[in-house]
Amino acid sequence: MSDLAAPPRRVLITGCSSGIGRRAAEMLAERGHHVVASLRDPSDVAEWPHGHIPAVVLDLDDPASIRAGLGAAVEAVGGPIEALFNNGAYGQPGAVEDLKRDTLRAQLETNLLGTVELTNLIIPSMRAAGFGRIVQNSSVLGVSALAFRGAYVASKFALEGISDTLRLELTGSGIDVSLIEPGPITSGFRANAQRAFEANIDWQHSVHHEAYERQLARLKTAGPAAPFTLPPEAVVRRVIHAIESRRPKARYPVTVPTYLFAVLKRLLTTRAMDRVLMRASGGGKR
Ligand SMILES: NC(=O)c1ccc[n+]([C@@H]2O[C@H](COP(=O)([O-])OP(=O)(O)OC[C@H]3O[C@@H](n4cnc5c(N)ncnc54)[C@H](OP(=O)(O)O)[C@@H]3O)[C@@H](O)[C@H]2O)c1
Repeated sequence: MSDLAAPPRRVLITGCSSGIGRRAAEMLAERGHHVVASLRDPSDVAEWPHGHIPAVVLDLDDPASIRAGLGAAVEAVGGPIEALFNNGAYGQPGAVEDLKRDTLRAQLETNLLGTVELTNLIIPSMRAAGFGRIVQNSSVLGVSALAFRGAYVASKFALEGISDTLRLELTGSGIDVSLIEPGPITSGFRANAQRAFEANIDWQHSVHHEAYERQLARLKTAGPAAPFTLPPEAVVRRVIHAIESRRPKARYPVTVPTYLFAVLKRLLTTRAMDRVLMRASGGGKR
């Protein structure tokens, strides 16, 4: 059936209702892995279209749901999770000065705290087995900042930092930690970001309201919003390597912007890098 380069693994993926998570569940199952997909919304689990891939409810914002979801996942695949793809997250757009404390907290709850809590619940069984793969879906915005993305940038920079720390602490345990760093990918991300923006940013009363109007127009356009946008498969190929390879990489840049920003960040001064990033975001207006 597959060109599996490693034994089939019991794999848990978060955030499978759309986009990268859903495609990862499909592609990893096609390769023969024992995949369990987790989704936040029980109605999405009820409508989950892949009968051969078990699906469980797991909301990263809710510690009880994380525990119950993990328990159901272990039961569904018949044993402890061997590979975890921490994918579930959302983007909260908005200038830093327009972020309410609760808005920033909610972003960190989902993208960082829930993800770390789930990971920590799984590590003991990985330690006992002497094997584990923890794959974090970070972002180009975990590598470089962009204007009007502060909450999301904070969550992904924090994910990068805590993952680097965890990798050091897991040295010799047989557990590898990898960061996937996608740039723009076709998915439900933009629509979800727009919802979060409209729900949580009082943009009409912001000093940035004109820039926000242009951003809203961009978010509402169909088709790829940014150059170099790739399909979810580009991300999943790196996830497959991180799970199956004997020597998974610590970092997997995915798109041209991620490679470019990572290199430029090493070469340029912070001020020069700021100018590049401002140009990349249309002077902070995109
Ligand atoms: N698309 C991009 O351009 C891009 C670029 C870089 C990195 N990424 C990263 O890729 C990952 C997947 O995003 P995507 O592009 O596939 O976007 P997506 O289609 O919006 O998928 C995000 C998934 O995360 C889930 N999620 C959100 N809040 C959650 C919570 N509290 N608990 C559990 N799951 C939750 C969503 O569930 P609901 O449907 O219930 O909201 C959805 O299934 C994210 O980590 C994102 O930061 C995406």
